[in-house]
Amino acid sequence: MASVCTIPVVLFGLLSIAFAGSPCPPRENIYPCSCVSLPQGKNVQFTIVTCHKMKDTDSFVAIFSTLRSMQIDHFYLFDSFWEPSLLGTPEAENKQVLPADWLTLLRIKELEIVDTTLSSCFACHGSLSCRNGVTTRFTAVNSSNSEKVCTICGTGNSKFSWTGCMSKLQHFHFSHSKLSVLRSDFFPIPMNQLVVLNLTHNEIIKVEANALARLPRLVSLDLSHNALQAIENLFSDQSTRLEFLDISYNMIKTLGPNLFRSVPSLKRLHADNNLIVSLKQSDWKDVPSTLRNIDLRDNPLHCDCDIRWINTTFHINVVLQGVCASPEDYENSQLRRASRLLNERCDEDGNIGTRPPKTKFKLF
Ligand SMILES: *[C@@H]1O[C@H](CO)[C@@H](O)[C@H](O)[C@H]1NC(C)=O
Ligand SMILES: *[C@@H]1O[C@H](CO)[C@@H](O)[C@H](O)[C@H]1NC(C)=O
Ligand SMILES: *[C@@H]1O[C@H](CO)[C@@H](O)[C@H](O)[C@H]1NC(C)=O
Repeated sequence: MASVCTIPVVLFGLLSIAFAGSPCPPRENIYPCSCVSLPQGKNVQFTIVTCHKMKDTDSFVAIFSTLRSMQIDHFYLFDSFWEPSLLGTPEAENKQVLPADWLTLLRIKELEIVDTTLSSCFACHGSLSCRNGVTTRFTAVNSSNSEKVCTICGTGNSKFSWTGCMSKLQHFHFSHSKLSVLRSDFFPIPMNQLVVLNLTHNEIIKVEANALARLPRLVSLDLSHNALQAIENLFSDQSTRLEFLDISYNMIKTLGPNLFRSVPSLKRLHADNNLIVSLKQSDWKDVPSTLRNIDLRDNPLHCDCDIRWINTTFHINVVLQGVCASPEDYENSQLRRASRLLNERCDEDGNIGTRPPKTKFKLF
């Protein structure tokens, strides 16, 4: 009995000490980066490496062997790779990339890149395979001017997916850049640990079918501040776990009849600041009962007899935000209240009855 129990305990012990930040190397070995290693208890430290104003990939390569020897909890690269972008030559692209085989050779738990000019194939350099069981978080903010990021690296028979190499990745954040399409090959192989995908502040006009199909554990998806005009079914497999969807600040005119069927566990929907006019019952017929928070503020919502379904569909505990923009009688009226009033006023054919002049009541 005892031996059966100890094996997993020992294994767990090994795994949990397998990653512990390293002591910092001498400053000159990682210059211009700097390192801080904070004690976290017996033999455990939390190691942060910060690289600021690295002029190009070569300056990164110069310290690569030191970085390779370390285990880094948080690696922060900011305001870097500026020199090649000033040159503007085609070769400059190769000076705005992460060092060859970085995914396999660097042991970085959380990688964060900010205000750095990366080329579109920044992650692809190296031999034609990669393996990474360390990185849990990848973040790039304001770091790309390309509308496309190479996710399939290599050519011919030796292609690989750099996103797919990160078998432990939980959080992928690529924002304040110029991505224009979320392509179906962005995550070409299953990412079984990925929980959060944040693509806010890009220029995404389209989410291709199957773009999210290989993210079975995705819980949170942020597509806010993009240029989407429509949103259709996001997942073809209906066992998705998505709970949070932010599509605010886009140009969405309609939510489409298949959206809700594809997100059966949704709890929060942020769809404010779009161009949604009509809330047709047919588009919302599959709305999951888990949905507790719906934000439709700042949309040009038209409140006619077609919104009568709202009052009875959403339990009073469901927070529904949004006001009617038209017609005049219902301008600025809360959706739920307008729905209730329309239930009383609409006739069986779905026409708003004419209002007797005497009952001129205030609607809000
Ligand atoms: C984005 O990064 C560039 C440097 O690559 C910087 O000059 C610019 O100010 C940053 N923009 C924002 C909004 O932070
Ligand atoms: C996405 O990132 C932005 C900052 O770039 C942040 O404000 C937002 O909360 C993030 N969304 C999620 C779902 O984590
Ligand atoms: C609105 O819905 C509630 C139940 O949620 C119901 O009791 C009430 O009668 C409805 N009002 C109208 C006008 O349909």
